[in-house]
Amino acid sequence: MAIQTRAMPGPFSGLSVKIIATLIVVILAVEVVIYLPSAANFRQSWLTDRLRVGTVAARVLDAVPDAMDLPRTLTDRLLTSAGAIAIVYRREGQSQLIELENAQTPREAVTVDMRLDDPASPILGALDTLFFGSNRTLRIVGEEDGQPDRTIEVLMPEAPLRAELLVYSRNLFVLSLILAIITSAVLYVLVARILIAPIRRLTGNLVEFSGQPENAALIVTPTARRDEIGIMERELAAMESDIYSMLRQRRHLADLGLAVAKINHDLRNTLTSAQLLSDQVANLDDPKVQRLAPRLVQSIDKAIGFAQSVLDYGRQSATPPRPMPVDLHLLLDEAAFDAGLVGHPGIRWSNGVPDSVTISADPDQFARIFDNLLKNAREALEAAGARIEAPYVEVTFTETPEWLTLSVSDNGPGLPPRARENLFVAFEGSAKAGGTGLGLAIARELTEAHGGKLAFVDQPAGTRFDVTLPHSIRIA
Ligand SMILES: Nc1ncnc2c1ncn2[C@@H]1O[C@H](COP(=O)(O)OP(=O)(O)OP(=O)(O)O)[C@@H](O)[C@H]1O
Ligand SMILES: [Mg+2]
Repeated sequence: MAIQTRAMPGPFSGLSVKIIATLIVVILAVEVVIYLPSAANFRQSWLTDRLRVGTVAARVLDAVPDAMDLPRTLTDRLLTSAGAIAIVYRREGQSQLIELENAQTPREAVTVDMRLDDPASPILGALDTLFFGSNRTLRIVGEEDGQPDRTIEVLMPEAPLRAELLVYSRNLFVLSLILAIITSAVLYVLVARILIAPIRRLTGNLVEFSGQPENAALIVTPTARRDEIGIMERELAAMESDIYSMLRQRRHLADLGLAVAKINHDLRNTLTSAQLLSDQVANLDDPKVQRLAPRLVQSIDKAIGFAQSVLDYGRQSATPPRPMPVDLHLLLDEAAFDAGLVGHPGIRWSNGVPDSVTISADPDQFARIFDNLLKNAREALEAAGARIEAPYVEVTFTETPEWLTLSVSDNGPGLPPRARENLFVAFEGSAKAGGTGLGLAIARELTEAHGGKLAFVDQPAGTRFDVTLPHSIRIA
């Protein structure tokens, strides 16, 4: 999947194809808008031409006293040369008509009045001719040059006009297409050089770099462009080198952490041997040894504890939880036992989780969350000693349709300021002698690994931490 989303676009889905297709469509749309008036214009001048020929013929008619006397062959030739079936000439209430001898006039006739002057009717007329003009008669009406009382009518078939209009349209279409292709090709070359090539370079680099972010040779080299692409190149270069150094730093830290873990491991083993020795030393009868030995044993225990918790922290963050059904009440009692609360001489422990609650969780990791919280509470109460009346630690359980909340609270002295400032920060949050400052950091990490949240709830007295878990982890 990851490889698929990282691949560059294919030849038909890239930016360039989209741009060229859009250009051609836009140019053709513009051509259509231009085509309509020019087709109307073509038709208009065609009609004017015919009317002019008609006028010439009418003048000839006018010159002879009686048109009917003219020889038939002459009138027929006059009409054929004008492409007309008949010509009517009206003036001063009289009208003269000449027509072809055996003209076959189509039944349907349309009148085009050339005396009218509005912009829309030539366009509509051109469309009308194109779509319906194959078998109609045209009646072209016009006036003799600037003399409104003299009108000329030319009757002729519409088919020749339509044929010429079709040829004209076809030529115009071919020309437009050639123009569209040439224009879009030129624009495309420009866009490709200015936009697409640099974008492809950046995209390619991004894909390659995200595949190997630890390869410094893949960091993009910005050009000197001052436009948006130039900014993009420089920002990308900066971002890639940031990622590169962050990864390097992380790798160094990981290496360092591994080394610390190894040293720590050996240190713990050495300390364990020292612990065995000191135990034996503590058994010697010498009163001086008897006085010093407990302190020696105590310091070595503390050192071992420290080494152990650092090791645990390293190990803990590495493994994801392995969930299984867990009885929550039982798990909390066990955690309280490990934290030294069960059977404690001074502190009352109360487990408020109902008996029947079973959740799906990693039992070891889940116990560690509460082990840490409960141990902190016990340590705080023990440190406060007699200052606290009737010390207790309790866990309460609340449930909403979305969440399960386990609140761990005690009536101890509350969080010291130093702990508040670095709450949940590993190695920083400890505010007590011998504390590592890992307990809360580990507890939060493990809660989040189970999809939950660990939060400190500020209260007037004592300390309270809430472990909130998604309701979906409850099985029963
Ligand atoms: N219930 C509590 N009451 C008072 N102070 C608390 C309580 N829980 C935590 N703290 C304070 O928060 C600090 C941080 O706790 P955290 O568990 O992270 O580290 P730690 O207990 O000092 O060391 P570690 O748990 O690694 O042995 C503690 O040092 C303590 O001062
Ligand atoms: Mg702790």
